Amino acid sequence: MATTPASGSVDGAGRKQIVTSLATAAIAMRDVAVARGGRQIWSGATLEIPRGSFTALIGPNGSGKSTLASLVLGQLQPSNGSLSVLGEVPHRGNPAIGLVPQNHALDKASAVQCRDVVALGLAGTRWGMGLRGKQVGLAVDAALEAVDGMTFGKRRFGEVSGGQQQRVSIAQALITSPEMLVLDEPLAGLDLLGQVEIVELVHHINHDRGVTVVFITHDLNPLLAHIDSVLYIHNGTPQFGTTDEVVDSDVLTELYGTPVQVTRTADGCVFTRAE
Ligand SMILES: Nc1ncnc2c1ncn2[C@@H]1O[C@H](COP(=O)(O)OP(=O)(O)OP(=O)(O)O)[C@@H](O)[C@H]1O
Ligand SMILES: [Mg+2]
Repeated sequence: MATTPASGSVDGAGRKQIVTSLATAAIAMRDVAVARGGRQIWSGATLEIPRGSFTALIGPNGSGKSTLASLVLGQLQPSNGSLSVLGEVPHRGNPAIGLVPQNHALDKASAVQCRDVVALGLAGTRWGMGLRGKQVGLAVDAALEAVDGMTFGKRRFGEVSGGQQQRVSIAQALITSPEMLVLDEPLAGLDLLGQVEIVELVHHINHDRGVTVVFITHDLNPLLAHIDSVLYIHNGTPQFGTTDEVVDSDVLTELYGTPVQVTRTADGCVFTRAE
């Protein structure tokens, strides 16, 4: 088990490094449970997500995926157990964690410019305090460049495509140069090409910058070429495994509650399909 370096990083050859030391896990849970409105959502979570990893988070509707994201962001407290995120107790407004929320909170008919949506990522974080207008503009440029979004930065958020809106959301999450990115169903509503483009973009953020990624999704297929691990919520308990362990016909059939076939082709492609 590696003990150094202290975070996900990219080595001299451009390969990403995944750090698995307990002390340096991106997310470490010990017997964590969470409740909402007086009802337990899930419990018994004991797991470590390594820094630098690209993890898919799956589970049925209502199983508590977004709830797990809220815990990691410090928006909710565990009802049991201990939780550490990037070596700290989670707290709100942590610039080291970027969130791409489920169903972007902004009205889809919003007249706000995409650039201004990106700048909103600075609100409520220490990172944004004291930045002057010009510096904010430069930070927005850098975030939009990172998502290949400079061409539509000045267009109204409500008028760009769903895929471009997701890029804006990702740029908003990237503006504080986070160490970890949590994306809550960013593929929802996108066509196949749009899904591939977002997955490739997130892959590069993970691979090139060493950003730890937790990617909530209902469909693993678009992610299979890039994820190294899967966090799944099953029977009220989040569990973590490598992609090889979880992407298995028996495991996925049990998880989804319907027959799932995992196929590995000669050239290394893996895909799943319902029988
Ligand atoms: N603010 C809240 N107050 C009370 N209960 C809530 C709240 N938000 C969510 N819940 C409940 O917590 C449970 C888990 O919800 P959550 O949104 O985390 O599920 P999810 O796995 O993200 O689902 P989906 O796939 O539909 O996005 C659900 O039963 C939901 O009704
Ligand atoms: Mg959700």
